[in-house]
Amino acid sequence: MELYERIPNNVNLSEDKGLLRALEKWLPNYLSWWREMGPEGFQEKDVYLRTAVSVEPEGWAHFDYVKMPDYRWGIFLKPADADARVGFGDHLGQPAYQEVPGEFRNALRRIIVTQGDTEPASVEQQRQLGKTCPSLYDMRNLFQVNVEEGRHLWAMVYLLQKYFGRDGREEAEAMLERRSGNPDKPRILEAFNQPCDDWLNLFCFTMFTDRDGKYQLAALAESGFEPLARTCQFMLTEEAHHLFVGETGVGRVVKRTAQLMKEGDVRELGGIPLDIIQRYINFWFSYSLDLFGGEISSNSADFFAAGLKGRYQEQKKYTEHSAANEIFTLMVVEDGHLVPREIPLRNALNEVLRGEYVRDCERAMKRWNKYLEDEGQTEQLYLPSTRFHRHVGEYAGHYFDVEGNLITKDEFERRRNEWLPTTEDREYVRSLMHAVTEPGKIANWIAPPTAGIKGLPFEFEYVRL
Ligand SMILES: [Fe+2]
Ligand SMILES: [Fe+2]
Repeated sequence: MELYERIPNNVNLSEDKGLLRALEKWLPNYLSWWREMGPEGFQEKDVYLRTAVSVEPEGWAHFDYVKMPDYRWGIFLKPADADARVGFGDHLGQPAYQEVPGEFRNALRRIIVTQGDTEPASVEQQRQLGKTCPSLYDMRNLFQVNVEEGRHLWAMVYLLQKYFGRDGREEAEAMLERRSGNPDKPRILEAFNQPCDDWLNLFCFTMFTDRDGKYQLAALAESGFEPLARTCQFMLTEEAHHLFVGETGVGRVVKRTAQLMKEGDVRELGGIPLDIIQRYINFWFSYSLDLFGGEISSNSADFFAAGLKGRYQEQKKYTEHSAANEIFTLMVVEDGHLVPREIPLRNALNEVLRGEYVRDCERAMKRWNKYLEDEGQTEQLYLPSTRFHRHVGEYAGHYFDVEGNLITKDEFERRRNEWLPTTEDREYVRSLMHAVTEPGKIANWIAPPTAGIKGLPFEFEYVRL
């Protein structure tokens, strides 16, 4: 079979000899990476997966049993708009860039490499989880997310190989060489080096960390560099399912915990106590906030000015697309106190994007708290302050409580176990993780979903073991 037939695509791969050659070299390395670092123990199993086969609204999601290494990773871009224009910044209204603008070549490469690196990283973080799945439905969702993150790597590698020449090809190889959590060749971003070795971690990761990806992709989906915009637009359609897995996953754990709270001691009953769930939320939320970058950033200003990275829903939500001459007020630490500081809006765009993300997380939090209320519980979960436990930006190097009050390092260390998962918490959660693989059955620490996949019942055999 010709390579371009093995790679479903809408980028005219068969005509593009240079790209075809680059992908020919990369594909076998990708496949050996997948064999080595993809889900362990399930590579030969039939999994009920959706595959993108085209970008048409009806055609893109095809459902069938597939063995993961046979998944048809493809290259899909949203169809081109002949009259695409730069939608914001200093070049507003000019024709969109079809090639990489020379002065932004390095910056764009960095954006694409950083985004691309997260995709295989998450597959690596999650590779052991199939062995402890709470149900076949959940196992299938994990594998669906994994193969799609693999495809997102393809999407970024396509951009690197097509638009960045030899450096792009080298970056594409390096994506397959770094490893999540490896001290010698770690993944680029810290959240993607954190262990994700139990299902509560997985659900928090897909809820909080993948959701950062949604906002980054959305900001790039309106990029003036058109191939990037069209790539991200299509990735967002797949990403929606990952966020669903995370939000409903945490929600189902909360729901089950709320039920067990009515019956007695959650721990004795084999559930996950609410305070542990809260500490996991604090951990993943704070690490995910770091992914948006510094609150005050000249990079964000440059990217926006160049029309490369916009705000969330720039076209839909804003009427003024220059964001010049506007001021943003931010709390910063000065001489041991939190004080407001005014900065030019363009320098605050990381923080503006982070704000959109936080509102989205608050929405999910309300839904989870509703599950507690529905079971008659008065306890509630919360999101910690965005200043809490930060390692990047204005608040890194300072210490805050979960309400965002500035505290001393000593006080933080004294209360760390109240706020962040302890070794004992992690061991306890891990002790609950035993595979439940009989169709229709579910682990005791999580509630079943309200519906199955693609109209099928929860009892369906989503993975043939
Ligand atoms: Fe992704
Ligand atoms: Fe994702």
